[in-house]
Amino acid sequence: MNIAQVDYDGLIPNNVALGNDVRVKRALEKWHPGYLNWWNDMGPEGFQQALVYLRTAVSVDPKGWAKFDYVRMPEYRWGILLAPQMEGRKVNFGMHKGEEAWQEVPGEYRAMLRRLVVIQGDTEPASVEQQRHLGKTAPSLYDMRNLFQVNVEEGRHLWAMVYLLQKYFGTDGREEAEALLQRRSGDPDTPRMLGAFNEKTPDWLSFFMFTFFTDRDGKMQLEALAQSGFDPLSRTCRFMLTEEAHHMFVGETGVTRVIQRTCEAMKEAGITDPHEVEKVRKLGVIDLPTIQKKANLHFSLTLDLFGSEISTNAANAFHAGLKGRYREDRLKDDHQLEGGTYPVLRLIDGKIRNEDAPALSALNMRLRDDYVGDCNNGVGRWNKVISEIGIPFELKLPHVAFHRHIGEFSSIKADVNGQILSDADWQKRRNEFLPSDADRDFIESLMKPETEPAKFAGWIAPPKVGIDNKPGDFEYVKIV
Ligand SMILES: [Fe+2]
Ligand SMILES: [Fe+2]
Repeated sequence: MNIAQVDYDGLIPNNVALGNDVRVKRALEKWHPGYLNWWNDMGPEGFQQALVYLRTAVSVDPKGWAKFDYVRMPEYRWGILLAPQMEGRKVNFGMHKGEEAWQEVPGEYRAMLRRLVVIQGDTEPASVEQQRHLGKTAPSLYDMRNLFQVNVEEGRHLWAMVYLLQKYFGTDGREEAEALLQRRSGDPDTPRMLGAFNEKTPDWLSFFMFTFFTDRDGKMQLEALAQSGFDPLSRTCRFMLTEEAHHMFVGETGVTRVIQRTCEAMKEAGITDPHEVEKVRKLGVIDLPTIQKKANLHFSLTLDLFGSEISTNAANAFHAGLKGRYREDRLKDDHQLEGGTYPVLRLIDGKIRNEDAPALSALNMRLRDDYVGDCNNGVGRWNKVISEIGIPFELKLPHVAFHRHIGEFSSIKADVNGQILSDADWQKRRNEFLPSDADRDFIESLMKPETEPAKFAGWIAPPKVGIDNKPGDFEYVKIV
């Protein structure tokens, strides 16, 4: 069969010849109703019957893999799509470097591999749950459609991980697949596995920050898993990355359009000082200092997802050939890291200092550094918009020690520049760095839905181009 084409005839679209794999097909068909129940309970609230102009993956060919059409979300064709198998692919790093890539789970790594798949899988439905109320306050039909596109694709990413669990992990895989439908973001008894996925996404600026910062963590994790010596995991992640790019586009352009509208409104009103918060807010736009605080919050919560700077789990997963570095295949070293070191920012004698650590133990730190670099590029593009309109303000990522709950800096309080603060000073100054209740109330007050085609809420600029090159007045969502 042609791997680039998807089999659409059965209940579950796929390019993994599911029709010939009776056991897995049955297992997935059994899981499917529970998934739909989850989607109907926890998916976009109030819009399950709306016709949404969505893309659906119909091929894994990099050119032309998606088709666009109106779909009711519960009828979306969530499928199982793996990037094409690469002839002669090898394990590219760790102690098995140079061996044939594994098509089956190596027995000794079964538990480690299952845990990697489950943790990745758990994040996918979590973000759908976090974002389920946002449809009701969408600033335009264009944005509403983008939200729902991200949501259905996170649903597909859950399918992607559940396929691996059902196909390769037997009974315990099946149990994990069930448990992925049972946990709930923010639930005190059965929360999602990672902290940032239990936070609220209360408003659209949060949504854009989440898709910029937290989906970008997703990208880094998928890039690292795409390097895996376990070939089915690598192939799954490679295709997920194609979809993930759109999620980050939604985040980056979303924040850009908020910034642009704010700066334009300031310019029109003759306000030159971006710190005149009250005056700016009277224009019905979000002041730049509050946008900075939102960025501080989402960046710091997302850094926690990278885990402890020094980590034996990360070392073991690399050593075993299960999880590589960011773009491992393009790095020029021995890909085993037995003797190397890597500089790690640590808390030493109450001071934040760099210290060389064994490279294998420092892999979380390294992935986080790559992530911070990637974020900085995006922040640079935001700043260009501000400076082109002529407002004297620069957005900046906070120091990595700021507002942390995991790793080296979880025991201290630091300001956005990495100066250590006493608890009392932190309490006094917290609202300088993070959104206060008043900031949240103000943003909330702007979240009025705009559901007429071609119209946008006053706090956000329209996009430069439509989705699938549609004109500005295109009706992206037909609400019923
Ligand atoms: Fe995802
Ligand atoms: Fe995503």
